[in-house]
Amino acid sequence: MKIVGISASGRRDGNTSRLVRYIMNKMSEYGAESEMIEAADMDLRFCTACENCMSKGFCVIDDGYRPAMEKIKAADGIILGSPNYSFNMSAQMKTLFDRSHMLLYYMRALRGKYGIGVSVGGHPYRTDLVAKMLSQGAWLCGGYTVGRICAVSRDRDDREFLDAEKVYANADALALKFYKAINGKKRYFFQNMLRKFTLEPALRRMAMSKKEKYPFLYDFYGKL
Ligand SMILES: Cc1cc2nc3c(=O)[nH]c(=O)nc-3n(C[C@H](O)[C@H](O)[C@H](O)COP(=O)(O)O)c2cc1C
Repeated sequence: MKIVGISASGRRDGNTSRLVRYIMNKMSEYGAESEMIEAADMDLRFCTACENCMSKGFCVIDDGYRPAMEKIKAADGIILGSPNYSFNMSAQMKTLFDRSHMLLYYMRALRGKYGIGVSVGGHPYRTDLVAKMLSQGAWLCGGYTVGRICAVSRDRDDREFLDAEKVYANADALALKFYKAINGKKRYFFQNMLRKFTLEPALRRMAMSKKEKYPFLYDFYGKL
């Protein structure tokens, strides 16, 4: 079992990384292999909306996104971690979402994979919402969301979470649930149905109506 943990904080080894790593270490105790991606170490550029991915099937920007995406595609479980920045996910994480628009989302490249969302904020307002948006990442890309966790660190140099005992207990429970879902290849009926009747028809309609503009997307959906 392979797990990739992403911490999309602007700084490495901050509180987001700490919580992502805590869950990764738990997963390692259960026998998983895990690898951490720190967005702070990545050369990561914004999506320029050139739509080459839609028309030709690959991203023209040659930066840290490609190797990160290969790791994500090779993993069984993905931990998406972001600090709460301005009541939202960080720009780094949003960039990963934007750059994955075609290559993971339209192509449902995380089919059969599992994801969880992790967020740390300076206060609770909207931090759980950030974790929720992150946890939906795997589902949006064809996989399953297993759950989410958020925590508060009163200031950036505070190396302990507020209500730390409760945070670690929640993290332990989430790690176990994550491990069991992946190990047992759990199928989430409701998530499948929701995707089948909401997202997928819209994606297919779009793809099939743009043969000239997005030939790659058209062929991809034509073969599904
Ligand atoms: C640019 C910026 C914006 C922030 N905005 C918020 C915010 O809107 N809400 C919040 O709760 N914390 C906010 N914070 C605090 C961080 O979420 C908090 O310090 C978190 O622990 C940082 O993650 P890190 O330790 O992984 O760097 C912000 C911090 C930065 C640097």
